[in-house]
Amino acid sequence: MPGMSAILVTGGAGFIGSNFTRYVIDHTEHTVTVLDALTYAGNVASLDGLPADRFRFVKGSVGDAALVDSLVAENELVVHFAAESHNDNSLNDPSPFIQTNLIGTYELLQAVRKHDRRFHHISTEEVYGDLELDDPGKFSEATPYNPSSPYSASKAGSDLLVRAWVRSFGVRATISNCSNNYGPYQHVEKFIPRQITNVIDGIRPKLYGAGLNVRDWIHVDDHNAAVLRIIEAGTIGETYLIGADGEENNKTVIELILAAMGQPIDAYDHVNDRPGHDLRYAIDATRLRTELGWEPRYRNFAQGLDATIEWYRANQDWWRPMKQATEAKYAKTGQ
Ligand code: NAD
Ligand code: DAU
Repeated sequence: MPGMSAILVTGGAGFIGSNFTRYVIDHTEHTVTVLDALTYAGNVASLDGLPADRFRFVKGSVGDAALVDSLVAENELVVHFAAESHNDNSLNDPSPFIQTNLIGTYELLQAVRKHDRRFHHISTEEVYGDLELDDPGKFSEATPYNPSSPYSASKAGSDLLVRAWVRSFGVRATISNCSNNYGPYQHVEKFIPRQITNVIDGIRPKLYGAGLNVRDWIHVDDHNAAVLRIIEAGTIGETYLIGADGEENNKTVIELILAAMGQPIDAYDHVNDRPGHDLRYAIDATRLRTELGWEPRYRNFAQGLDATIEWYRANQDWWRPMKQATEAKYAKTGQ
């Protein structure tokens, strides 16, 4: 998609969507309209400073069919980030996950179908379930779907809706399934920012269970560069896995954070495990690398973590308003 285009970014006040919006403004000539409901996870402050001639914010839900229809009509491309995104929340109350992730995606698909707009669906590798810790394999585009939590099941369902709208109605869509992102503007409910902000506040980090679960970390800018590449050069109807070979277990990540913040590496607590906790995620991104020529830029996880720690130290006004309510929610489940 060279030159200038009008992009509708759903969920653009969230972690990855706000970074994507900044990335697009910085690296392309496109204009961006963000549609975001500003749930507990959305924050307009994450979009501060963007140029008014290329950026517009609309508060509203992807479940609002009339609003979605009019915004889709005004734009050439829709990049769909909006979702309820946190596994722990989905275990406490699945209802908003069904509404936003399934019904919201359905409303967008109906609108892009009606107006014949290009659609890119942002999804997760959690749709594939998990791998054993000693399994040498990784997820690929051919891995069967086998989601574990209400969150991942709702994302799996949304992916299948996209595939059906491509096949049955000729919608011009692509899908990407990415592994765990880290970087600036991530909500403090998520693993890495929770531990960094705990240490800043003098609270011990919290490790679920034994902490041997493995996640495949990727910097949010590498994810967003891949999304842009898929939009520009991906094949309609195809799925691309996004990952940067960043496997680490949770215990190691907590130890890295503690060491980087000048604390003893055992200064953390084991807390209740997550029910149904996926063991290991690992992405084989060969297709993205070979067919679309994407390569990650952030190859040193420890350095990426250091920069993220610095960001949370320097941006306490951004995260402090969410911290207390987040920890109160975790206290109820002993986490
Ligand atoms: P997030 O929770 O930080 O942001 C979600 C955003 O969507 C928020 O701004 C929220 O206000 C908005 N939103 C929620 N419901 C809405 C609705 N009904 N209408 C409009 N806006 C609504 O999530 P994130 O981590 O930025 O994830 C973004 C997307 O990327 C999600 O689709 C998620 O499944 C996917 N993803 C996330 C990761 C990750 O590591 N965080 C990895 C792979 C894929
Ligand atoms: O893999 C992609 C997914 O990554 C995305 O689809 C999700 O939207 C995103 O939230 C993330 O899911 P996870 O469940 O893997 O991320 P979370 O940050 O919640 O947890 C990461 C790991 O850390 C997981 O094994 C649980 C563990 N954990 C989490 C928290 C919040 C802890 O040990 N302690 C904690 O305090």
